[in-house]
Amino acid sequence: MTQITAPQFTARKGAAEKLVVLTAYDYTTAQLIDEAGVDAILIGDSLGMVVQGRGSTLGVTLDQMIYHAEMVGRAVTKALTVVDLPFPINHYDTGAAIDAAARILKETGCQSVKLEGGEAQADTIHALVTAGIPVMAHVGLRPQSVHQLGGYKVQRDEQRLLADARAASEAGAYGMVIECVPSEIAKSITAAVPIPTIGIGAGPDCDGQVLVIHDVLGMTTGYVPRFVRSYAKVGETIKEATAAFAKDVRGGEFPGPGEAFK
Ligand code: KIV
Ligand code: NA
Repeated sequence: MTQITAPQFTARKGAAEKLVVLTAYDYTTAQLIDEAGVDAILIGDSLGMVVQGRGSTLGVTLDQMIYHAEMVGRAVTKALTVVDLPFPINHYDTGAAIDAAARILKETGCQSVKLEGGEAQADTIHALVTAGIPVMAHVGLRPQSVHQLGGYKVQRDEQRLLADARAASEAGAYGMVIECVPSEIAKSITAAVPIPTIGIGAGPDCDGQVLVIHDVLGMTTGYVPRFVRSYAKVGETIKEATAAFAKDVRGGEFPGPGEAFK
């Protein structure tokens, strides 16, 4: 089976069946969710929080993104792969963005990049697309701008959001994430652009939905945003399995005869 391509992803705009996107940061997880069936796998800079334990995504480096994207790229055989450009690469000149995105494609086997931004990033999106690098845009709440935005807040400036979405689409983005935007605004954006919108905290009318895998699996420690739905309690499973192993070791129950060599 060949992998979903960026043009195939774009062609799903407006389809009855919504696009399904999840994050992954390592080989094993990526292989499992790819087998389960998702349309795209995002190696998000959210790894700064859920893998590295940071308070924001700002500290994540390009080398770290490449390290994780390479593991995911090696695992995936079906889904489209998307790798975040870490802060602040897409704010340098277009040459720096091309250098970074090209490293990602060359070194990881992944197929596309995502960058936070809309209108102000249009030149960068256009330059990357011209270089043959598919770009997913990211409008609404842009976590890399958390200090400028004054926190992780719902974004409500409809004119700004529509201008960002239109500019990203006109610059050649193949899709876009819409993060933390009221459902009605996400619906208008989705109607206004010819490329798929992938919502997170953006209501039911986007062309698809994305969540962070740790949130979906129920293994996030600490704060979980309102827009998350957890489908498992893997965090509790990990604690229970650890406690059971510890009990067996301490009680002399592990290893048994069948778990040792004669
Ligand atoms: O880094 C990330 O995981 C993301 C998604 C939440 C869209 O950008
Ligand atoms: Na991100």
